Amino acid sequence: MAQADVPYESFHPDHAVYAEKHVPGAKRNDEKRSYVDFGTERHDDKERYTSSKVMALEWEKIWTKTWLLCGHESDLPEVGSFMKIDFGPESILVVRQKDESLRAIYNVCQHRGMQLESRDFGTNVKFNCPFHLWQYDLSGKCIKVTDRESFRTEALDHSLDIEQVRVETWKGWVFISMDRDAIPLLDYLGEDLVTRLEAYPFEHMKRMSDKRQEWDANWKLALEAFIEGYHLQGLHPELIPLADTYRIQQDIFPNGHSVAISRFLMPSEQYAHRLKAKMTGEHQLFMREAGVDPATFQGARPMCERSSSSRREHMLKHRAMILAS
Ligand code: FES
Ligand SMILES: [Fe+2]
Repeated sequence: MAQADVPYESFHPDHAVYAEKHVPGAKRNDEKRSYVDFGTERHDDKERYTSSKVMALEWEKIWTKTWLLCGHESDLPEVGSFMKIDFGPESILVVRQKDESLRAIYNVCQHRGMQLESRDFGTNVKFNCPFHLWQYDLSGKCIKVTDRESFRTEALDHSLDIEQVRVETWKGWVFISMDRDAIPLLDYLGEDLVTRLEAYPFEHMKRMSDKRQEWDANWKLALEAFIEGYHLQGLHPELIPLADTYRIQQDIFPNGHSVAISRFLMPSEQYAHRLKAKMTGEHQLFMREAGVDPATFQGARPMCERSSSSRREHMLKHRAMILAS
């Protein structure tokens, strides 16, 4: 189908409504982006998913070169706060400095390579290596060699400081890059993505939970499953009440980044008839997570009457009202 023949419909009214209500000056952005033609060829190169050589190439060409989203600034609230990022063979610490800036260092003692920190999050005045108690300040500078006088001078005649990793933030999100020559984060994200997400006040948000899953699969299989909602009917039908997966809007930007917009806590119209109740156990679960008691919930007031309830709670109430109507 030629690009001009593709009818346009904005599938993301909630996105615009949220921005207009909560962010001064935000404008609805329904502008249709041009379609990206991915062609129709099939690839049958299974090596991409199974070969350790491809995996090594990905490490060399992708993971050690790109910016990696590793957390949120709310996890680094005070001087000395750190978060540990284990990624492939590397372990990296992002640390809040005395001047409140962030630095990232490899989580590796310069003596014999012991990891300095085993905790995922914490707060330190300095880092003490647990093996022979060398010490490093928050920036990775070596400040103590245990029994220094027992070393030959030339054995310590080089930098004992820990190598730095690039770290930058955007709207509260913390990114690291192992490539010293990586382009600035904002250039990497690109104007399209930054503009599309500008309305969301991520920098005022806090992490509510931290969950980790390890899958016995190649990462590309996981990624590919997460850029479609097509598998919901087969793989997890219990989510049908929770997401309008039939009408997900995928914006794909020229630099390769993309944004998926899906209406949440509302079923797809196609599948709504399969639901026995308008308010399901899954809806109630999400309401309880937001501090709303489904048993006493009476419906939400219109947005203009709202005073103190949190945005998230309000959004959930709003959804629940729609479901109940
Ligand atoms: S390995 Fe860290 S002090 Fe020896
Ligand atoms: Fe899934």
